[in-house]
Amino acid sequence: MTHPVWPLFDLRVTTPRLELRYVDDELALALAELAARGVHDRDFMPFTVAWTDVEPPQLEVNTMQYYWRCRAEWSPTSWNLNLAVVVDGTVVGTTGAMAHDFATVGGFETGSWLGREFHGRGIGTEMRLATLQLMFAGFDARAATTGAFADNGPSLGVTAKLGYTPNGGTDRARRGTAARSLHFHMPRAHWEEHLRRDDIELHGTEACRALFGAR
Ligand SMILES: CC(C)(COP(=O)(O)OP(=O)(O)OC[C@H]1O[C@@H](n2cnc3c(N)ncnc32)[C@H](O)[C@@H]1OP(=O)(O)O)[C@@H](O)C(=O)NCCC(=O)NCCS
Repeated sequence: MTHPVWPLFDLRVTTPRLELRYVDDELALALAELAARGVHDRDFMPFTVAWTDVEPPQLEVNTMQYYWRCRAEWSPTSWNLNLAVVVDGTVVGTTGAMAHDFATVGGFETGSWLGREFHGRGIGTEMRLATLQLMFAGFDARAATTGAFADNGPSLGVTAKLGYTPNGGTDRARRGTAARSLHFHMPRAHWEEHLRRDDIELHGTEACRALFGAR
């Protein structure tokens, strides 16, 4: 049964290893509690907005408000999609895509995090591939971009493995000092040729096309 008003609630991606599910309130709470258990080492900050520096229980409140805000502010010309990553019934992290003027530009930016206990097992790579498949196969995207701070080895490791093209960098404020952020680009043709999979299933994309501004 498709949600009568907000079909994003039925959006899902399944791979042999994991499932991506649109973040509803139950998954938002699970992600908030996961984040409170730790996303990265305290002496490292992977995010431009240092949201993980906030102490629980405020961290959980802020996290849930973030997901509500993304849902409330959604429009076909500016959206921020958050998907929970579920492995064997356990919420292990989140992956997402965001875009402005997707109907015109056809490009989207990805972002993600895993609970610290789930790092380094290949989940980050698999969830990035699932996100790319959703956007390229499900919503006819024309290009993907991503970025990470120059000292974020695991994030850059995923990006390098998948064959993105380096596309410069920017100095960004991070915990009050400047840090280099590196940008990467992937045209649709690269995904088609090297990364498209026939064992990833998309569910509920058709009903969501207008919400994404997909043609
Ligand atoms: C970034 C993140 C999502 C990656 O997920 P993951 O499951 O840990 O990543 P994977 O195990 O799929 O792959 C990581 C790859 O990077 C490599 N890698 C790890 N540290 C590295 C380093 N310092 N330098 C180079 N490569 C490195 C790994 O060897 C692996 O490649 P391999 O499979 O070829 O061996 C996860 O680590 C995370 O949540 N980190 C904290 C939050 C974060 O940084 N989010 C991204 C913000 S841009």
